Amino acid sequence: MSRTDAEILDRSSVDDLDAILAISNTERDEVIHRVTDNADAIFTWDYEKGARPPLAKLYEKAKHSMWNGETDLDWSIEVDQERNARESPMTMNADTLAQLGIDLTGSSLQHWGEKEWIEHSIQSQNWSLSQFMHGEQGALICTAKIVETVPWIDAKYYASTQVMDEARHVEVFAKYLDTKLSGYYPVNTHLKMLLDDIVNDSRWDMTYLGMQIMVEGLALAAFGFMHQMTTEPLLKQLLRYVMSDEARHVAFGVLSLKEYYEGLSDAEIFERQQFAFEAAVRMRDRFLQQEVWERMDVPVKDAIELVMLTPTRQLFQMMLFSKIVPNCKKLGLLDRNDRWLRHRFEELGVIQFEDWVDTSSEYETFALSDTDLRTA
Ligand SMILES: [Fe+2]
Ligand SMILES: [Fe+2]
Repeated sequence: MSRTDAEILDRSSVDDLDAILAISNTERDEVIHRVTDNADAIFTWDYEKGARPPLAKLYEKAKHSMWNGETDLDWSIEVDQERNARESPMTMNADTLAQLGIDLTGSSLQHWGEKEWIEHSIQSQNWSLSQFMHGEQGALICTAKIVETVPWIDAKYYASTQVMDEARHVEVFAKYLDTKLSGYYPVNTHLKMLLDDIVNDSRWDMTYLGMQIMVEGLALAAFGFMHQMTTEPLLKQLLRYVMSDEARHVAFGVLSLKEYYEGLSDAEIFERQQFAFEAAVRMRDRFLQQEVWERMDVPVKDAIELVMLTPTRQLFQMMLFSKIVPNCKKLGLLDRNDRWLRHRFEELGVIQFEDWVDTSSEYETFALSDTDLRTA
């Protein structure tokens, strides 16, 4: 039973900006967010270790690659967020926008001077790191769920190491935000909806698809981009360490689902294709940073139409899918059911990544050296 894009997303079209901005996080002041997990916890009495050699190899690798967020990162480094914003090539201003052909005359950003653009850049960083932290907690919860729900012992073993990794990631992003940056943002509503859907789902493989393939695939690309752009040594080091784990996590998703999806019917695969599409759109929408514009007290839709839909910005948004698309291809999700997901990725403008390297073995190149792990 084929649903239209509008029905899957509950909006008139994929790019309906009013609909994207209409939903916002209504739980901003709550400390606890409760989600019903509909999945069964599965015991297995088959303890044969190494029945799935790629997963057994990942497990050994993970045991060797543990690091300590408190002692392996140099927290004595002082961070001058304002100076960094001033020097960052990502900080926008009227001149750089004019070079892109964007005229702010008559807009709500017309009177912004250097001070406002620097503040915007600082808020944008606070927002990005906050969302990374929330996403990491999503990964912590989803991976604990995988320990419970996956029926294979090798996967339970590996997932348990990922739980530890994700705790460390939440910890280091939270510490960086708390001690080095200047503000915090609640979870973005599009990210929250996606995390809720993943936790809610009763099928064990959907946790992998939502988290390891989609959320972590995007995170790996986003961390890589930020790692390249930042000159702040502590953040660079932190991202480098986190990425070495994330590459392994995405590989875990690809290696586990490859086997499972080969045995699924077209109808079952179609459900996975739709889930992947919905997740892709939710993640794309969160990068509009609507909460940053709200905090800067300018009309959100105007600002987004002016700045976030520029060609450079859209190129960045597309790059976020550079890991997701080849991994979906590797899993056979692009072309089943009359190439359904391929067509959706074409609409989103991201299909060009299909032949980029997938992440089933890329973790080897991201691995930390023994020197990096000296104090672990
Ligand atoms: Fe993580
Ligand atoms: Fe992860």
